Amino acid sequence: MSQLYDRAEIYDLIESEKRTEILRRDWQQFLGDRKIRSLLDVSIGTGGMSLPLQELGIAICGSDLSEAMLARCGTKAAAKNRPIELQCSDFRDLSCWGDRLFDCVASTGNALGYVSNEDVPVALEKMDAHVRPGGYLCFDSRNWEKIQREKQRFYLYPPFFHDGTRVNLVQVWDHNADGSITFNLLYTFEQNEKIVQKEIFEEHYHPFPLRIVTEKLSDLGYEELSLRPFPCSVPETDFTKMEWYRIIARKPQER
Ligand SMILES: C[S@@+](CC[C@H](N)C(=O)[O-])C[C@H]1O[C@@H](n2cnc3c(N)ncnc32)[C@H](O)[C@@H]1O
Repeated sequence: MSQLYDRAEIYDLIESEKRTEILRRDWQQFLGDRKIRSLLDVSIGTGGMSLPLQELGIAICGSDLSEAMLARCGTKAAAKNRPIELQCSDFRDLSCWGDRLFDCVASTGNALGYVSNEDVPVALEKMDAHVRPGGYLCFDSRNWEKIQREKQRFYLYPPFFHDGTRVNLVQVWDHNADGSITFNLLYTFEQNEKIVQKEIFEEHYHPFPLRIVTEKLSDLGYEELSLRPFPCSVPETDFTKMEWYRIIARKPQER
């Protein structure tokens, strides 16, 4: 089965001006009056989520497990004349960033669920090591507790057009006996109402409860923990009903 992240050009088909605008507004609200001038995204992928921050004057660096995603991210940033420093790295080992500190260390795009529940606190600890005192740690995640409660399987996305080709995306999620979830993604590409290309990918996730991250952040001394729907334009306040959330927490000045 081919990996979606080896096909970064297909992954990026979800990008649109409208999506970028929503993300830009989301970041604007996120920044608010927080003192953030630099941000490291440890699951930057093609940069769809964090590159809009460059337009808001934030210096971005990024790492990711996938060379193909990083290559595309680098090309997109260079095309906007905003080159970016990128490293290929697992977020459970961020030694590639040496002793560098950032105002904020983020993991964007629901990436923490890629590792086992035991490894989620490890990743948070590694991220924390690069947050300056008084800086922020943040990540967004699907609400795995809601997903596990409802066990929805079929997700049909609205079709979109790319270079004159209609793109259809269907996801079927297998809820496995060990608690993990396999996302089966089927992309079909249509011209003149005929499928001319099909691509199937599998992504494997390990749902984690919110408690795992709040406990770890509390152990690390984080304060001012905020949990809100992601993107922030979603008007949901009840966590149990949120599809996707973002956590932002502040590292103490001294520990
Ligand atoms: C859904 S994509 C989101 C990408 C990016 N944040 C964006 O907005 O386009 C998830 C990303 O997490 C990365 N990833 C998965 N496991 C990882 C790990 N253990 N360490 C670092 N990156 C990882 C994947 O390579 C992929 O680029």
